[in-house]
Amino acid sequence: MDAFEIREAFLEFFEERGHRRYESASLIPNDPTLLLTNAGMVPFKPYFLGDAQPETPRATSFQKCARTVDIENVGRTSRHFTLFEMLGNFSFGDYFKRDAIRWAWELSIGPLGLEPDRIWVTVFKDDDEAADLWESETDVPRARIQAMGEADNFWSMGVAGPCGPCSELYYDRGPQYGPEGGPAADPERYFEYYNLVFMQYLRDDPGNIIGDLPAQNVDTGLGLERIAMLKQEVPTAYDIDTHRPIIARAEELTGVTYGRGRESDVSLRVVAEHSRAAAFLIADGVLPSKEGRGYILRRLLRRAVRHARGLGTEAPVLPAMADAVIATMAPGYPDLQAQRELVTRVVGAEEAEFARTLRQGLTILEDAVAEAEQVGRRTLPGDTAFKLHDTYGFPVDLTVEIVQESGLDLDRAEFERLMEAQRERARGALKRGDDGVPAHVYRDAAGRVGGVEFVGYDRVESESALGAVVTPGGVVAAAAEGDDVEVVLPVTPFYAEGGGQVGDTGLLETDTGRLEVVDTQSPIEGLIVHRVRVVAGEVAEGQPVRARVDADRRHATERSHSATHILHATVREVLGQHAQQAGSLVEAGRLRFDFPHFEQVGRDQLEMIEARVNQRLLADHGVRTQIMPLNEARAAGAIALFGEQYGEVVRVVAIGDFSKELCGGTHVRSAARVGGLVLVREESIGANQRRIEAFTGFDAYRHAARERLVAEEVARLLDVAPDDAVARVEQLLERLRDAERQLARARAATLAQDARAIAASAQRADGLAVVTHEAVDVNTDELRQLALEIRNHLGQRGVVVVGTTTAEGKAQLVGVVTTDLVDAGVEARPILHAAAQVVGGGAGGKADLAQAGGREGARLGEALRVAADEARRAVG
Ligand code: SER
Repeated sequence: MDAFEIREAFLEFFEERGHRRYESASLIPNDPTLLLTNAGMVPFKPYFLGDAQPETPRATSFQKCARTVDIENVGRTSRHFTLFEMLGNFSFGDYFKRDAIRWAWELSIGPLGLEPDRIWVTVFKDDDEAADLWESETDVPRARIQAMGEADNFWSMGVAGPCGPCSELYYDRGPQYGPEGGPAADPERYFEYYNLVFMQYLRDDPGNIIGDLPAQNVDTGLGLERIAMLKQEVPTAYDIDTHRPIIARAEELTGVTYGRGRESDVSLRVVAEHSRAAAFLIADGVLPSKEGRGYILRRLLRRAVRHARGLGTEAPVLPAMADAVIATMAPGYPDLQAQRELVTRVVGAEEAEFARTLRQGLTILEDAVAEAEQVGRRTLPGDTAFKLHDTYGFPVDLTVEIVQESGLDLDRAEFERLMEAQRERARGALKRGDDGVPAHVYRDAAGRVGGVEFVGYDRVESESALGAVVTPGGVVAAAAEGDDVEVVLPVTPFYAEGGGQVGDTGLLETDTGRLEVVDTQSPIEGLIVHRVRVVAGEVAEGQPVRARVDADRRHATERSHSATHILHATVREVLGQHAQQAGSLVEAGRLRFDFPHFEQVGRDQLEMIEARVNQRLLADHGVRTQIMPLNEARAAGAIALFGEQYGEVVRVVAIGDFSKELCGGTHVRSAARVGGLVLVREESIGANQRRIEAFTGFDAYRHAARERLVAEEVARLLDVAPDDAVARVEQLLERLRDAERQLARARAATLAQDARAIAASAQRADGLAVVTHEAVDVNTDELRQLALEIRNHLGQRGVVVVGTTTAEGKAQLVGVVTTDLVDAGVEARPILHAAAQVVGGGAGGKADLAQAGGREGARLGEALRVAADEARRAVG
């Protein structure tokens, strides 16, 4: 059975048992607490929590998953990957342990064809019920059921959310893989392939269980690669049909044969595995960056490059590896093929960038090692390794290797401390925006209000009762003037920030108080909170409330949102289908649109995009919104950005026949209402990432009007019609350049004449000619020129010091001596130094020419006299 046949068999088995089939969701989860989709249950999380109603009580899915907790084990064990596929069956408050266990058994010995007496199971130590069910529902004898502790048999997402005890299935691969004794004895011989989680508790972020879920659920995960390994009877999961061809490509590129020895095998596996993970991440819209999921991607790519280099390859390998991944995996993931160009270009750029980084990092590291050796230190400071890691993406194991080659150690403790501090910052960033109110308080508020209805698609005003007043400490009954709190209404016209569109602002009023809404957010699925300040009086739960959105701001925001959809479609037409929206900000009168692209967008292309968008606005296409099942929307070709949640229905926004997107935002009713769009900026925001900014509606007009005003003012000053202004400016610039050239020639001639006259006034004594002169209205270059010209006239045994006072009242001095004096040991700098002290400054320069400057221009005459005396003394 090849991997995709196994996938099909699994899904069919559960479809036959009343489960609805789901396609894999994106690796980018629709969940602010998670960076990546790390389990098959992630898209279903709101159903377990009871935050959303599932469309069906039983689901089965295949899901691409990414995890980096075990990244160091990749290639070293038979089973650890950063990217894998999980097959799952799920019950949302429907069946529980008995059916989950029975079906896991029937699936294993039925469609999967595993031998019954080689199957072992583990259960959570306190879960006797599960152990009993294994005995009563299946043929697994007590002797092959082992109880394990929390570390092994209690599953949670690693962040706040649903969790529960689990029961795992293992397959005995035989004595050649390790000692007897069941899963507790050896994980390579007794190979875990299927995890049944009995989801029933809720945990907080530190990991404490804080309550029961609304229902008892089942979440299972069967590792596709693992079961394929067992079925295909290969020694490791790297040898299965969806991996081996990718390793083969790595062998070709590096010239190293797989199966030779431990370290080179590890490297070949790492190159293949990370290339695979990277291709999937990029195809789902992740681009390499310095933080978040972009950083995870960068780390994978850099590890792959490093292992390839370690195998002796200097040439780029990643684009060819990406091609091999796509060729192997596209049958199961058609989206990969569509994003081929994006994937290969991104990995190629990152590989080239990393080569540069490695060179820079090596230089810094060598300097740091040399410095440590110089001062006799035996350790390299941890902050050097951290800076290399953080700023240059220099892997710490490489740092350690190089440092050890020089007989030094790295201060690991310091390094780890800095890394931990950084992780702490990253966690803070993830939680940003929740304003300190814990999720359970929001859940409490949602429970009290019992569902929120958003009516803002059609209206900007509504009336209802004040549902709940939320503070970080919990739900309270009332709020008074000056308080900053959050308010929940059962019915609201306020749009909560989402899909790039900013949250609404406006007013809430009761008979006793007024609330100013400064922002609207949706902190948990299905809940809308108004962030308010009580500006007058007081308000209490249950009071009737009039809600009024700031309509001008909302309408200006809607213009930007519809314009963003039209821009998106147009950018892809002009630049290529890869230029898919990677992020956006939709505000009143203004929008920002990010997308992958491989070079600066040309001026012509920008003009074409802007013109085409505006034509489309004029054509006044209708903006239609439709609610439909997700699979229908997909079939109709709607673009789904970022991992959308599974759900019975989605909202599709279509404009004309050229734009169709899944979108929950608010829009104008027809394109013409956008009014107009003006592009104001196009810039790079990272490797292969571009950003466009634009004004819309009245702001577009205002921007254009401002620019017209500038153009008109320029034309008025030039005394021509605005259309002739450019030609006129070019002409004037040409004339200006001519005039400057003439002026420079004239000044040079004057300078030469002056120099002759000044030289004639030299004070001569004992065969030495000393010239001092105070020049007016000359710049530094001219002052230097003047000094040199005078020296030419003196011929031999001459010293010249000239000075001037600048417009700011500072003194500038230049001193030169003839070369015969330089040969005799007389230098310009000490002569000028004495003068510089008089004007409160310093001197610098060479033996034959020095310059000085000082604050006190008024003392220039005195400084020149001091210089003359010093010259005579120096010559002696
Ligand atoms: N969520 C569990 C896991 O990831 C079962 O799917 O192992």
